[in-house]
Amino acid sequence: MEDLVQIVESARADFAAAEQSAALEDAKARYLGKNGALTALMKGLGALPAEEKRTRGQQINRAKGEVEALLNARREAIANAAMEQKLASEAIDVTLPGRTLPMGGIHPVMRTWMRIEEIFRSIGFDVADGPEIESDWFSFTALNNPPNHPARSMQDTFYVDRCDGTGMQLPLRPHTSPMQVRYAKTHTPPIKVIAPGRTYRVDSDATHSPMFHQVEGLWVGDDISFTDLKGVYSDFLRRFFETDDLKVRFRPSYFPFTEPSVEVDMAFTSGPRKGKWLEISGAGEVHPNVIRNFGLDPEKYIGFAFGSGLERLTMLRYGIDDLRLFFEGDLRFLRQFN
Ligand code: DAH
Repeated sequence: MEDLVQIVESARADFAAAEQSAALEDAKARYLGKNGALTALMKGLGALPAEEKRTRGQQINRAKGEVEALLNARREAIANAAMEQKLASEAIDVTLPGRTLPMGGIHPVMRTWMRIEEIFRSIGFDVADGPEIESDWFSFTALNNPPNHPARSMQDTFYVDRCDGTGMQLPLRPHTSPMQVRYAKTHTPPIKVIAPGRTYRVDSDATHSPMFHQVEGLWVGDDISFTDLKGVYSDFLRRFFETDDLKVRFRPSYFPFTEPSVEVDMAFTSGPRKGKWLEISGAGEVHPNVIRNFGLDPEKYIGFAFGSGLERLTMLRYGIDDLRLFFEGDLRFLRQFN
């Protein structure tokens, strides 16, 4: 009995001294392992007389149970300590300010685009989208602007090579006007549509960029007159600029696809160009030849069209004097609009 009490006490001390699980498992082997103290006593039972064997066996088993309980308690204590330590070393300070993801903003020209769609949708216009690589026919010929006509130089653009071995080229659309024909050919009157999008021209200065945006507008019915053009367009400008106090003029002009034709100018009310006029749109009554290319009878159908520059409307809205600022990606400039 005495020896068993000693073994249990010794195991208690050894287990307590083990700081890590490897040391604890070594200590366990000294008592419960193949050559451990308790295992040795078990083995010695065989030599005892039957009666003694029973009592001694029970005593050894009780001691073994105690050692096992001590072992499990110590295992748990070591695991808990390891967990505590891990938690402490990985602790986070939840009161620190978070790291925010940088958020993008809406480009001022896109904001203009969205506002235009909203305004025209509200008065029943459809919104259409079309290709930026166009055919010569849609870009010019269908718009009453035949090959070699001097008016083609008004919209000098870039060309891309066709990859079909013909050696031919296709224009990048120099205006959104091809969308008049594309849309009208696939819809029946009354036709009421705007088509905003990217356009391309061989131009670069404070009011021109090689890539820019336009919105085309077209309303064709039995009696859509120049008065309707003035009314709809002026109302659009009042809503776009959110004021009735606008300086706008409709100036006689020439486009092959309209007759009569005008250019719409607007004066800056703020910024370095205050008081100066800026052309924002071409417009007019759609030419009978173009109505014919819509697949419609010009004796029956008449209407107006316009094509406006989105960068220019944006310049006027915010008093910006140089359109190239929109394309430089300078965040100091862009952040002002978000
Ligand atoms: N497409 C012309 C340009 O970019 C602008 C224009 C003029 C569009 C008259 C029209 C229009 O729809 O009727 O210079």
